[in-house]
Amino acid sequence: MTIADAERSVGSNTARSTATSEAVRRRTFAVISHPDAGKSTLTEALALHARVIQEAGAIHGKAGRKSTVSDWMDMEKARGISISSAALQFGYGGCVVNLLDTPGHADFSEDTYRVLAAVDCAVMLLDAAKGLEPQTMKLFDVCRHRGIPVLTVVNKWDRPGLEALELMDEIRERTGLEPTPLTWPVGIAGDFRGVLDRATGEFLRFTRTAGGATIAPEERVPAARAAVEEGEAWRTAVEESELLEAMGQVHEQSTFLGGITTPVLFGSAVLNFGVRQLLDTLLELAPPPGPRPDVEGTLRPLDRPFSAFVFKIQAGMDSAHRDRLAYVRVCSGVFERGTVVTHSATGRPFATKYAQQVFGRERETIDLAYPGDVVGLVNASALRVGDSLYVDEPVTFPPIPSFAPEHFAVCRAVDSGRYKQFRRGIEQLEQEGTVQVLRSDLRGDQAPVLAAVGPMQFEVAEHRMAGEFSAPVRLDRLDYSMARRTDRDWGKVLDRESGVEVLERTSDGALLALFAGNWRLARVQRDHPDAVLEPLVAASS
Ligand code: G4P
Repeated sequence: MTIADAERSVGSNTARSTATSEAVRRRTFAVISHPDAGKSTLTEALALHARVIQEAGAIHGKAGRKSTVSDWMDMEKARGISISSAALQFGYGGCVVNLLDTPGHADFSEDTYRVLAAVDCAVMLLDAAKGLEPQTMKLFDVCRHRGIPVLTVVNKWDRPGLEALELMDEIRERTGLEPTPLTWPVGIAGDFRGVLDRATGEFLRFTRTAGGATIAPEERVPAARAAVEEGEAWRTAVEESELLEAMGQVHEQSTFLGGITTPVLFGSAVLNFGVRQLLDTLLELAPPPGPRPDVEGTLRPLDRPFSAFVFKIQAGMDSAHRDRLAYVRVCSGVFERGTVVTHSATGRPFATKYAQQVFGRERETIDLAYPGDVVGLVNASALRVGDSLYVDEPVTFPPIPSFAPEHFAVCRAVDSGRYKQFRRGIEQLEQEGTVQVLRSDLRGDQAPVLAAVGPMQFEVAEHRMAGEFSAPVRLDRLDYSMARRTDRDWGKVLDRESGVEVLERTSDGALLALFAGNWRLARVQRDHPDAVLEPLVAASS
């Protein structure tokens, strides 16, 4: 061994132990909720507590405050939705917290699914007045499917809402998870005074600040004094907490990690009540990054050389940055900017000179990153969602499944003279996973079929084709609403059936048979009982 080799070997051993020790202090999570439950407000409040921002409103900026950072595209702004996802990293209590943003709208649930592939824990945010809403349930199903532990936060307790015990019943009945509240509200929804800390039996009294813009002061009050000062509200909280205990609703780490129980916290994001408890709970209970299984199920230990997978591609985020970012989650080793990594899908080298951390409009160069961290690789045009990257020791992580599309439209360039731009745009949108692209010889490449889980994806595609690729398009909706995967032989047979069309998905060459509806599919199945017609991953699985 030469001196240079020896030095390299010592260096890489140090890097490996650093990867493990840094992983232990990471918490990588996402907030899942129905739109309007308060996800943006909670993100603000978390950032405020972590002192990333001085005043709530700086990131997502509601009416009258600074413009939102998370809403990149004009369309997002106009519709008040956030389509793009990004990651917010901050230090808290000696740990590094990575909060991955997820789009709230159901039409972008595929994007959310990809983000959930990159987290170790999810926070399910409920509106106290509404309980479990459709999108919360859908996202919760994804978490269960992927084995992601879920923490629950009941938000908006400052407003009249359901009874706390009623909410617990709803969680149990509808998710199958046993709720194990860590705190219990003192004061009914609408009269939020603070929470009972079930671990210590103390009262945590919250005090409002003007507009909830700064951290709400919190006072820890012994039970005896709380009984005197809060009277009936305190007694009710204690009684209910004892009832929960009698029913066994007490936190246990193994059942939480095993997806059997969900710890519950009560709060008000807008008043910053309960936010510190959430951060502390994440640090204490959420699992740090662990070894990830590769495509064959073999775990990649944290201390192996660098590896990561792409969970999100984002392009054309705003006119000032017309570039393309591939967000990767680090799975093992240390990411060092400038290192040449290998792209597992092609075996080609990939330079990582431009690596950034992105949250909304804020971009910062990242020099080092550890397991659990998110790195935005700039102009990573060769990368697709699900791709793996590694150094030295090859690894391929499992692909992120694409959802079953339910909406289909033929896409044509308005100006046929701009066909080159049209091709480039369609290819780009397909690589990013904005829409799925289907083709057939019959339709030709000038008129591909775009497939989407939600129709708003079409709007994004249309908007970006015109704005970013200077190739305005016309979309003509097709009648199909279901897709099944078939093979070449059956593809030819099915394509001859009326109300059925077989197209090839350009991303993976899969043949998809499209049907106008359930009854059409049922008839084809009846006429061809042996036909290969595999369901695709449903949006809710
Ligand atoms: P989202 O990202 O999940 O879609 O929700 P967002 O944070 O935008 O919150 C939706 C609405 O709920 C906002 O009201 C927000 O202020 C309010 N909200 C969030 N957390 C709480 C809470 O703890 N208590 C109460 N009472 N309200 C809360 P808005 O009217 O749409 O906007 P704004 O003008 O109030 O900011």
